Amino acid sequence: MASEFPYVLNPFPEEVQTKLKAKFLGFRGGLVDVEGRHAMPAHYGRFAERYFNYKFQKDDVLVMTFPRSGTTWTQEIVWTMRNQVDVDTAAKVPLDVRVPFIEFDSLQPEHLPLAAPIEEAYRSRHPGEDPRDKGIFLDLVDALPSPRTIKTHLPFSLLRPDLLDSCKVVYVARNPKDVCVSYYHQQRLVKVAEFVGDFPEYVDFWTQDLLLQAPYWPHLAEGWARRHHPNVLFLFYEDMKEDILRELGRLNTFLGTALTESQLQTVARHTSFSGMKSRGATNPTAALQESGEFKKGEAAFIRKGTTGDWTNFFTPELEEKFGEWMEKWRPTSEEIPFRYQIKIPE
Ligand code: A3P
Repeated sequence: MASEFPYVLNPFPEEVQTKLKAKFLGFRGGLVDVEGRHAMPAHYGRFAERYFNYKFQKDDVLVMTFPRSGTTWTQEIVWTMRNQVDVDTAAKVPLDVRVPFIEFDSLQPEHLPLAAPIEEAYRSRHPGEDPRDKGIFLDLVDALPSPRTIKTHLPFSLLRPDLLDSCKVVYVARNPKDVCVSYYHQQRLVKVAEFVGDFPEYVDFWTQDLLLQAPYWPHLAEGWARRHHPNVLFLFYEDMKEDILRELGRLNTFLGTALTESQLQTVARHTSFSGMKSRGATNPTAALQESGEFKKGEAAFIRKGTTGDWTNFFTPELEEKFGEWMEKWRPTSEEIPFRYQIKIPE
């Protein structure tokens, strides 16, 4: 039996909405706050209960992250590992079809067109039905053959409470300064948000936790609290950058994929930053700029892929402001052992 969605969706106060809408042109419909755990477009209300009750399958694997923490990289890794290192299919079929973003129907603003190929697939499966109502991404997840790998930025608390009895979760975390810089560029690029301010203005929103799918720390806290659960693998982006074969080894054990050392090396090569940036299946920036889903003239979705890029954007003033925000979120912000710079062996 479906459970009632246990949280109240509160529209942000009028003056906050006005501020947000002036700088994020994609937030025309306004944002709602899910009791301090997540900020979503208002029409998330139509889907919240369905996500909360979504019954995952025993062999599903969820890649769960706060945005810009290495989701796409991990999606490609996990899909390739769970599909016999089929790098040819991975190069041809778009990642968002192989590893759908389950809640994207609730992020896509109602004034923008739906993702064309995914809408077409929906219409052929359900002639005459309204795709906005049913959700084309939810439907894509339903239609996916096993073993399914699924992307989500929803925190644990917005999915079913017994989630970990039914599937596995790979949770990826990245230090908040690099996430902030990366999210700034992505929010300028995607029409879902279309941020039109500069970086200091973005930090202003960030430090007030006024961002899509924010706040950051409660999301991280929920993942961190479950890191010892046998059905959770908690990864750090920085560890993946430092030694990808070591982290692929951990995934191999967790996923039960039993890949050989040589297959893991193939996965590492296939999912390298340059490889993923060069392939349309994982970096559809140019195509989505043409279709109007991404804005032209902005940095690519797969952008720089380093640890420590924040040093190129944070002035001492911005660092101070960020530090105050970190203080505000103690003890979580102290507990998770993030690295802000790493040394990568030659
Ligand atoms: P930058 O903007 O710092 O470059 P997400 O997929 O969660 O949105 O995260 C996007 C971030 O991961 C971007 O960071 C992107 O460049 C980086 N990324 C994507 N693929 C990567 C890869 N194969 N190796 C390292 N980083 C990658």
